[in-house]
Amino acid sequence: MEINTKHIPVLINETIDLLNLKDNSIYVDATLGGGGYSQRILALCKNSKLISFEIDQNAYKNYLNALGNQNPSSDITEISKSSNTQYIVNKNFSELEEMLSTLKISKIDGLVADLGWSTDQLSSVEGMSFENESDFLDMRFNKNLGVTAADLLNALGKSELKKIFMKYGDFSDAESSYLVNAILEKRKRHIFDQVQYLNQVIESTFANAKGRSNKNINQTKARIYQSLRIAVNSEYDNLNELLNAGFSLLNKSGRIVIVTFHSGEAKIVEEFINQHKKELDILSKTNAGDYITPTFEEIKNNNKSRSAKLWAIEKL
Ligand SMILES: C[S@@+](CC[C@H](N)C(=O)[O-])C[C@H]1O[C@@H](n2cnc3c(N)ncnc32)[C@H](O)[C@@H]1O
Repeated sequence: MEINTKHIPVLINETIDLLNLKDNSIYVDATLGGGGYSQRILALCKNSKLISFEIDQNAYKNYLNALGNQNPSSDITEISKSSNTQYIVNKNFSELEEMLSTLKISKIDGLVADLGWSTDQLSSVEGMSFENESDFLDMRFNKNLGVTAADLLNALGKSELKKIFMKYGDFSDAESSYLVNAILEKRKRHIFDQVQYLNQVIESTFANAKGRSNKNINQTKARIYQSLRIAVNSEYDNLNELLNAGFSLLNKSGRIVIVTFHSGEAKIVEEFINQHKKELDILSKTNAGDYITPTFEEIKNNNKSRSAKLWAIEKL
């Protein structure tokens, strides 16, 4: 069944081929989104279970509504259709191990994750966009998280803030220093609450800066907002937990397919593969590296796919 969503699944044919789906199996889709991958998996398997995670409550509800379930009440919904059962879980995929243990599942045959957020999701969370200047610098996808982006900007020390911009935004040591010094100066006079204060700091630090690579101030802002979003939502820790838990739960000959969208995510997957290289086969090797990229045709039809990299491994 096709779920009507604006999101176009990226690298879906390559992902599904590499999962090597079999009947009587157990699969995990760590990032349900509009359900493109999950629905394809269900269509191609028999007598199988699929556990689909989705952290965003709206995306979770939209998926269930599209399947005719108008009032999903709890954070886990079970749907049995044909011979398959899908468990749709409104939780962070970092909770994979706990959720599978709740479902009395001890091994899986495959796991897929298509990382990232849709534009709609990003625009629905306060403080995510540098364009909404009166927004509070919140950036939490899940309001149960304790720390907002404003908290980080107001409370972290110089080296912790520098680390966020270098690690999550690919800024150089020098660029991060300029930025963090300006943040520390600003917060002496005004605490960070609204987007406009962060924008002022970025503009005064980077606009017209000679000899620095950041000519396009909006691109710079986007990287700074991305860095804070990754820190607030612990995105890299979540991905590490998913990879570690997924690999230890994976049966022999089971497969993991991950689609990444930026260099930080790619680095985590690459490091994970390198750490476990004696226990796995890389299935996605190309001339470019250990990953597959979308075809020219796919990029032409869906420009958002241009930065995607697909990493696929099989457990030995
Ligand atoms: C790019 S979309 C996935 C699209 C999906 N493959 C499809 O075909 O429709 C990524 C989804 O993963 C969800 N997500 C991101 N991080 C997550 C996390 N840590 N745990 C669970 N879901 C997450 C986002 O809310 C988003 O809906």
